Amino acid sequence: GADVEVDISKLEPGQLMRVEWRSKPVFIVRRTPEILEALAAHEEQLKDANSEQPQQPGFAQNRHRSLKDEYLVLVGICTHLGCSPQHLKDGAFNEIVDGVKDGFFCPCHGSKFDMSGRVFSGVPAGLNLVVPPYQFLDDNLLNIG
Ligand code: FES
Repeated sequence: GADVEVDISKLEPGQLMRVEWRSKPVFIVRRTPEILEALAAHEEQLKDANSEQPQQPGFAQNRHRSLKDEYLVLVGICTHLGCSPQHLKDGAFNEIVDGVKDGFFCPCHGSKFDMSGRVFSGVPAGLNLVVPPYQFLDDNLLNIG
C-alpha cells in the first residue's frame, strides 16, 4: 500500500533522517532533551504555537506535535510554495532567528520553522509544517500513512 515502514533504531539524538512517503519527503528527527526544552522559549514569535490549523492529527495540536516527544515526524515541504526546508542544527539556526539554536529554514523565500515545524512570524509561509499520519509499530518501527 501507500504506507511506509521506517526503522528508526539507528537514528542518533539530534539527527534527521529523510524518507519518501507518497512521493513526498518526510523528515524524522530524534530530538534531544535540550531541543525539547528550547521549544517553550520562543512561542511568542510563532504564528500558531498550538497548531490550531486544520488538517493536523489531534496529537499535533500542542508544543511537541508528535506521538512521542523525542521523535518529530514532518512532511518536509514548505507550506509556502513547496520548496524543501533545510535542517539547521547545533547553533546554525541562530543566524536565522536570534537565540534559537535549531530549526528549519526554507531557502526559497526565507520561511523559518522551529524544531516542532512551527512557523515563525514575519515570513511568507502561513502554516506550520504538516505532520503526516503515523504510528509506532514498536519502539524502533514507525509506520507512516
Ligand atoms: Fe518556502 Fe517560499 S517556498 S518560503
